[in-house]
Amino acid sequence: NGEMHSWNGEVHEVLSPVCIKTAEGLKRKVIGSYPLCDEKEAAEALSAAVAAYNNGRGEWPTMSVADRITCVEKFTHKIIEKKAEVVKLLMWEIGKSHGDSVKEFDRTVEYIYATIDALKDLDRQSSKFSIEQGIVAQIRRSPLGVVLCMGPFNYPLNETFTTLIPALIMGNTLLFKPPKHGTLLHYPLLTAFRDCFPKGVVNTIYGRGNKIIPDLMKSGDINVLTLIGSSKVANELKKLHPKVNRLRAILGLDAKNAAIITAKADIKLSVQETVLGSLSFNGQRCTALKIIFVHRSLADEFLTELSDAVSKLKFGMPWEAGVSLTPLPEPHKPAYLKDCISDAVEKGARVINENGGATNESFVFPAIVYPVSKGMKLYTEEQFGPVIPVVPFDDVEETITYLIESTHGQQVSIFSNDDEEIAKLIDPLVNQVSRVNINCQCQRGPDVFPFTGRKDSAEGTLSVIDALRSFSIRSLVATKLNDSNKH
Ligand code: G3H
Repeated sequence: NGEMHSWNGEVHEVLSPVCIKTAEGLKRKVIGSYPLCDEKEAAEALSAAVAAYNNGRGEWPTMSVADRITCVEKFTHKIIEKKAEVVKLLMWEIGKSHGDSVKEFDRTVEYIYATIDALKDLDRQSSKFSIEQGIVAQIRRSPLGVVLCMGPFNYPLNETFTTLIPALIMGNTLLFKPPKHGTLLHYPLLTAFRDCFPKGVVNTIYGRGNKIIPDLMKSGDINVLTLIGSSKVANELKKLHPKVNRLRAILGLDAKNAAIITAKADIKLSVQETVLGSLSFNGQRCTALKIIFVHRSLADEFLTELSDAVSKLKFGMPWEAGVSLTPLPEPHKPAYLKDCISDAVEKGARVINENGGATNESFVFPAIVYPVSKGMKLYTEEQFGPVIPVVPFDDVEETITYLIESTHGQQVSIFSNDDEEIAKLIDPLVNQVSRVNINCQCQRGPDVFPFTGRKDSAEGTLSVIDALRSFSIRSLVATKLNDSNKH
């Protein structure tokens, strides 16, 4: 509610993925702490957001679009001043390399400016009138109410702001809970929220999601749930809302994006894009390639070249030059990945590359696992880490069957040098996933492109213009032309 609260209660110690040597071995370094709000503080934050919205009659939802844009511009200038601090925290808190942390920051700022430009366009369109059957109509976009916003640990800044900013700029009020890993880096931005928006418009809460979020949902006062995370959590939260049919959900969820390397693919290019797609930020991207289908005739050559490329990747601390593999922020991840690899090995696959799957406290060396098949965890589970499951196929129809049977539907990449082969595959593929990438890895960007997914991969669409639409409703002001209304 526009105030910084002091805190004497329970705190959460933040462990960095960056480890230090201790007598008992490598241990994650403590780099700070944050307050663990309880249900009461969370409820107070919700009341502040509800009061600031005031059934659409608050200062923020009734403010002109131009004035809201001015507030967001002021906010953007202030966060740009915090760039060095936020980048440092991205490295320490989630282990993202310096280059990728800078990219995440810059991309976020670009997204905000693109959102402002898109809103100016949308607003210009609203000033147009259309006349049909003697009725003059003006279309506007109106806010939806109180938005509960939760971002993911892998893009704690960018993915949070690609929902938070459009929700905000459309006149909604917000309750924002930063991700468990990636909370500290939002701390320097709190004063910018306080100084740029009316009281109660943005309310940041800290705490254990499973403790504080359920009551917020049960209150029925949340009008929009926006979450980038797991479909399981999203479904559980939606069910708690007493009037779920009135809740709008804008969700970026699970994905198991596949690469299909046909017999006519360029192997060098496929290897290069597989490495980028599977291992950028250690495979911790919702858009990462999480399963690779390779035509059996190319499998040996592909695996040899892929192992060679992986062996050249440099592991290091996020601030070191030229590193592409860094420590993992989620403490349970090394053991989980090891378990997925053992499961595949027990069922007949093997780790192809030297040191593949070697772990320490917070690091896993990428493992290429082959031949992965139905029934193995790596065939269906979203590993979200540096493991590359490779599946041989004889007929490309097998890969389409995989996509049809999958519960996910975000993106796919096809590799082929044969235009006719690609053309034949596009229709069957776009009917399964929401983006088909030809001869390149899967990715979200450029961020102005629509970002969504089928099945359990998403609800609603993000991108610059789609997000503005997602966080607002189209309303119509209609005037009947008659003698007294001719103006
Ligand atoms: O984790 C999901 C991100 O939106 C992925 O974005 O494809 O640019 O890494 P990216």
